[in-house]
Amino acid sequence: MKEVDAASLVLSARKLLEESGLLEGSFVTAAEVLGRRKEMMRCTTGSKSLDDLLEGGIETQAITEVYGDFGSGKTQLCHALCCTCQLPPGKGGLGGGALYIDTENTFRPERIKQIAESRGMDAGEVLQNIVVCKVYNSSHLELVVKSLGKYIEKFKAKLLIVDSIISLHRAEFIGRGTLAERQQRLNALIHRLMRQAEVYNVAVVVSNQVQTQPDAFFGDPTRPTGGNVIAHASTYRIYLKKAGQERIATIVDSPYHPYGEARFRITGKGIEDPEGSKRGGE
Ligand code: GTP
Ligand code: MG
Repeated sequence: MKEVDAASLVLSARKLLEESGLLEGSFVTAAEVLGRRKEMMRCTTGSKSLDDLLEGGIETQAITEVYGDFGSGKTQLCHALCCTCQLPPGKGGLGGGALYIDTENTFRPERIKQIAESRGMDAGEVLQNIVVCKVYNSSHLELVVKSLGKYIEKFKAKLLIVDSIISLHRAEFIGRGTLAERQQRLNALIHRLMRQAEVYNVAVVVSNQVQTQPDAFFGDPTRPTGGNVIAHASTYRIYLKKAGQERIATIVDSPYHPYGEARFRITGKGIEDPEGSKRGGE
């Protein structure tokens, strides 16, 4: 069966069920929405100041996009989250494992071991609860994301990482002529991720590369890649910048967080506050 046929079949089945009262309609009350939001959990990053900036940590039912220059700490933050998400909810975690989709071949189990050990966690167990999928081209990535649901259930994952969301599409679709198709495919990809986040109550973290806008006269000329497609679909966008040994995270786009920035360090424990700092949320 073609995808289009399947979609129309599903839609007419849904209409029938809604009319007969067996299935809830598309409209739900704000109270019900609030009920679902109450199931939302937050995962600590390991840095108090970054957690404060995020009002508690990375959220489930949302896509958090992290972008920044090379070496700004995107991959390191992803590694740290793979460990902290396994902490019980009472200790700032999500009490579940992580699925790590690696498009840049930068996943390092040794680093996970180091972070877990420094945090006093059982490294063997932590490694056991992280499932890594290396993807080599954009079609492969799209295919993997299509079948994510069963893996989330199978591995009881609470965190889903795509590091990075755009590198493969960016490398394969070159030139203006291919831009429309690239954006369409990215759009489908990121919306699928959003649905997984909502349906399975998992936190989705995607990393994104940056491009420099040579025509920007004022301010910082770096922009995340992927254009509006990624911008609109991400719930939160965090910009990471290097500042000597420290890193500065800025919330660029969020439905409710106030504008702000936080400083953190990359250490043996993953992500931590800057030394001797009580500057959380400054
Ligand atoms: P790209 O993927 O190249 O765009 O960069 P990224 O933003 O993913 O950078 P990444 O997260 O890989 O950060 C690299 C930086 O993290 C390095 O410059 C190091 O300063 C730091 N780092 C990497 N590994 C370790 C480690 O094991 N311990 C500590 N303390 N720092 C590390
Ligand atoms: Mg990286």
